Amino acid sequence: MTLESLWARGYERLGKLLNQRECENIRALYAQPELFRSRIDMARYRFGRGEYQYFAYPLPARVDELKQGLYRQLAPTAREWMAALSLPKDYPADLSSFLKECEDAGQARPTPLLLRYQAGDFNCLHQDLYGEVFFPFQVIVCLSQTEEEFTGGELLLVEQQPRAQSVGHAIRLEQGEAVAITTRYRPAKGSRGYHRTNFRHGVSEILSGERYTLGIIFHDAA
Ligand SMILES: [Fe+2]
Repeated sequence: MTLESLWARGYERLGKLLNQRECENIRALYAQPELFRSRIDMARYRFGRGEYQYFAYPLPARVDELKQGLYRQLAPTAREWMAALSLPKDYPADLSSFLKECEDAGQARPTPLLLRYQAGDFNCLHQDLYGEVFFPFQVIVCLSQTEEEFTGGELLLVEQQPRAQSVGHAIRLEQGEAVAITTRYRPAKGSRGYHRTNFRHGVSEILSGERYTLGIIFHDAA
C-alpha cells in the first residue's frame, strides 16, 4: 500500500473490501443484541442522531479477519506516521501483540462497531480515542447501497490547521467500499519538516432511507 492520499489528505480509499452479500450479512448482525457489548443512542449523548453498537468479543469471523488483515497492512505506515509526528511508536506487526499493549494499559474492551442511520440522522464531528494507547488509523466500510438504499450521509473529515482555517472533505462511499482515515493527527509537510494537524470526522445528515456502516477501530477501549 502506498497510501499517498493518507499522507496528503488524511484519508485513503481502499476500494471494495466486501461484496453485496457480505455487506448484507454483516448488517443483519445488528438485530442480534447478544453479539454486542453496548448500544449507544447518539441523541442521548448529543453525539448526533442515530445509533450504533460495539461488538463484543469474540468478534464475528469476517470482522475479525478484516481487522487483522488491515492492521497488518497499516502497521508499517503507522510507524512512519508517528515518527513524522515526532511521537515515535513501534507498533507491532500483528494485531494480537498490539491488543496486548492495549490490555496492559487497561484498554481491553472491543471497539469495532456497526452504525445505523435513518433519515434525519447524523454524526457530529469527533475522534474515536478511548485511552492512552491508540492506533493512528481506522477503517470505515459502507454496508448500504448509495442512492438505492439511502441518500445524503457522506463521511465528513475536517482538518484543523495551525494558524489557518480548517479544511473539509466529504467522502461518498459505495456499498462495500472502505476508507482508512487518520484517528487523530496528520503529519503535514511544511518548510521546516512536519507539523501536526488535528482531524475530526462525522457523517452528514441522511436525507432518505437507511445507511449501515462498519467501523473498524484498532485500539481497544478502557
Ligand atoms: Fe467515529
